[in-house]
Order: sequence, then structure tokens, then C-alpha cells
Amino acid sequence: MKLTFKQAKKGDLKFLDEIREKKLNKIHLYRINRKQAEYILAFYKKEPVGHVFIDYKSKYKWHSCPAIEDLYVKASKRKKGIAINIMKQAEKQIKQKGFKEACLDVETHEHWIKKFYERLGYSKVSGPHNLKYKSNNKEVTEIVFHLKKQL
Ligand SMILES: CC(C)(COP(=O)(O)OP(=O)(O)OC[C@H]1O[C@@H](n2cnc3c(N)ncnc32)[C@H](O)[C@@H]1OP(=O)(O)O)[C@@H](O)C(=O)NCCC(=O)NCCS
Repeated sequence: MKLTFKQAKKGDLKFLDEIREKKLNKIHLYRINRKQAEYILAFYKKEPVGHVFIDYKSKYKWHSCPAIEDLYVKASKRKKGIAINIMKQAEKQIKQKGFKEACLDVETHEHWIKKFYERLGYSKVSGPHNLKYKSNNKEVTEIVFHLKKQL
């Protein structure tokens, strides 16, 4: 499946709503407005089908290279290889900026997603870690493994 990619801008919120099938404008705007980060949208023909976020200056102390986060594929378009394609694009963009490694976190109970990343060449380098973030003004803690790949 041939995808095209673009960096998400404020005017793209409608595409993000279509991918997520709900309005999450606060989350999307936060990602769009982040400095030293890229929020990438994937399209199949003209249809928005997925997104991924790259954080070049992550706040988590165990991150030592650009972090790939928030990989998401529209529910009706899953299991067609789109996530693999989006990950390759994220890695390409990280490499183009001169970095030699990419990293990501996966929740310890998400066994198949961890396998999915391992098949793409990522391997566990540390963890479990307590990944804390705010969602709807509530503190959320996820227990994650940290994975890395040489690009
Ligand atoms: C995780 C996610 C991005 C995968 O997207 P996708 O486009 O369906 O993935 P792909 O089609 O590229 O599949 C990649 C591999 O994972 C496997 N896979 C996909 N969904 C799976 C599932 N529900 N259970 C087990 N394996 C699965 C595929 O079989 C494929 O393996 P293969 O190459 O051997 O066939 C998608 O399910 C999603 O958006 N989930 C919700 C958000 C999320 O959990 N993101 C991950 C954050 S860490």
C-alpha cells in the first residue's frame, strides 16, 4: 500500500479526527505545537489513515535518542501493513536529521505490540520504567519497557 506523508499543522485537525474517529483536539494541538518534534500524518490516496509522533527532546530520563510515540492506524485500515510503513517513514525522517538511533516505549502487558517492534529491529534496552503523563488533568502512569534500534 503506497502511502504519502505530511507534517501535521493546525489546519489538519479534521484529518486527525477522522483517523481517531473522535475529537481529541487538545492532544493533537499539543503535539502539533511541540518544538523539536514532528507529528506525521499518513494518507492512502487522499484518505488520512494514521499518525505517529517523533519527539527529538523527550523529557523521560531513560530516553537518549529521538523517541517514536503515538503510532496509530485508523481502526478500519488495520492489518494491511500501514503501521510498518509509518514506522519506516518515522525512521527515515530521524535518520535524515543525522541521528543513528531511534527509541520507543511499549507497555509491559502489550505483548504483540512489543513483538511487532522487535520484528522491525527494536530490542529492549531497559525497564520496566514508570512513564508518567497528564491526561484530562489526571496523572497517568504506564509501566513500560524501553526499546532501541540502530538506524
Ligand atoms: C498498533 C497499530 C498501530 C498496528 O497497526 P496496523 O496497521 O494494523 O499494523 P500492521 O498492519 O502494519 O501490522 C504489523 C504486524 O503486526 C501484526 N498485528 C497487527 N494487529 C495485530 C493484532 N491485533 N494482534 C496481533 N498481531 C497484530 C500484523 O499481523 C503484522 O504482522 P505481519 O507483518 O507478520 O503480518 C494499530 O493496531 C493501532 O493503531 N492500535 C491502537 C494504538 C496503539 O496501540 N498503538 C501502539 C502504541 S505503542
